Amino acid sequence: SPYPAEDEFLMKTVDGQTLFIRPVKPEDAPLFTALFKVLSPTTIYYRFFSAVKELNPKMLARFTQIDYDREIALVAIDETSKTDRMLGVARIIGDADSQTGEFAVLVGDNWHGKGIGVCLLEKCLSIAAKRRFRVVHGFVLKTNRNMLALGRKLGFEIEKDLDTDGYKLVIQLEGS
Ligand SMILES: CC(C)(COP(=O)(O)OP(=O)(O)OC[C@H]1O[C@@H](n2cnc3c(N)ncnc32)[C@H](O)[C@@H]1OP(=O)(O)O)[C@@H](O)C(=O)NCCC(=O)NCCS
Repeated sequence: SPYPAEDEFLMKTVDGQTLFIRPVKPEDAPLFTALFKVLSPTTIYYRFFSAVKELNPKMLARFTQIDYDREIALVAIDETSKTDRMLGVARIIGDADSQTGEFAVLVGDNWHGKGIGVCLLEKCLSIAAKRRFRVVHGFVLKTNRNMLALGRKLGFEIEKDLDTDGYKLVIQLEGS
């Protein structure tokens, strides 16, 4: 499918900044590289479950060149500087059955607590519901309080995950 322009919108952060939210594009690789450079080790660990040092070309391709039918990925862009800056990203990758998907969300440390993560993930979930996904899940490390709070806020059920010694967040989508 072509780029889903209908999923573009503007959001206001809790401190009143306007951000452009849009589906990811193949040309976003430099924006991902720039965002990754300003992430703290903890944020990297919470998102990737390991101490990733840099985003290699294969990872960049995987994050930016997506199949719009199978995957939902939204980025939050600050357009007020001379060059666009990416502040956060959320995605839901559909399984082969197209009924279930796994989410991931990441916001740069400087912009935590402004409502960006919840806005990105909430919109991804609403797109997933429209596409008739039934269940979305994601894994969260035990000490990741911010993500557990965000998950609770969005209505995820929180189960202990014995494999990772963390939690599995699960949500059944409306209309399924
Ligand atoms: C988890 C993460 C995405 C949250 O993004 P964020 O933009 O900072 O979160 P938001 O500002 O949208 O917060 C949404 C809700 O989550 C909770 N929350 C998130 N960050 C919080 C913080 N720093 N302190 C307290 N509560 C917080 C709150 O319940 C908040 O709701 P509220 O504003 O009504 O209190 C962000 O901390 C992050 O990128 N962490 C590292 C990556 C990661 O953990 N990903 C999850 C696994 S894939």
